[in-house]
Amino acid sequence: MKIVVIHGPNLNLLGKREPGVYGTLTLGDINRKIEAAAFDMGIEVSIMQSNSEGAIIDAIQKGDFDALVINPGAYTHTSIAIRDALSAVAKPAIEVHLSNIHKREEFRRRSYIAEVSEGQISGFGAESYLLALTAAKKILSGG
Ligand code: DQA
Repeated sequence: MKIVVIHGPNLNLLGKREPGVYGTLTLGDINRKIEAAAFDMGIEVSIMQSNSEGAIIDAIQKGDFDALVINPGAYTHTSIAIRDALSAVAKPAIEVHLSNIHKREEFRRRSYIAEVSEGQISGFGAESYLLALTAAKKILSGG
């Protein structure tokens, strides 16, 4: 069972970036939590971060995974291209956000990704990724 985790733009700045909204953990801290949880769950995980829409699309198109967990950052609200890539690859995707995007500015409520995802986990900080791993494993196990 191979799961790819994709972190989108500006998530490389976690720890310094608006800590009141996104918390104080760095991306490295979050990735270590993801790797530890994946190990415990018996999941093979591969993690990438990019600020570039094209690089995210290339990673999705590769399709070398059974499911993917994606925090598209601000591309959530703008990128029909990422939406189309997810639709094309037709593997289960879980949309993740650290913050609760429905509790913030109006423009964050619109997600192009939600329409092509199994579900969205939003508002639980780093825990959102771990909940997404659990959800992905359940989906892949047929549950
Ligand atoms: C985010 C929410 C987005 O609206 C924002 O643009 C981000 C981070 C989150 O994880 O809460 O970059 O995806």
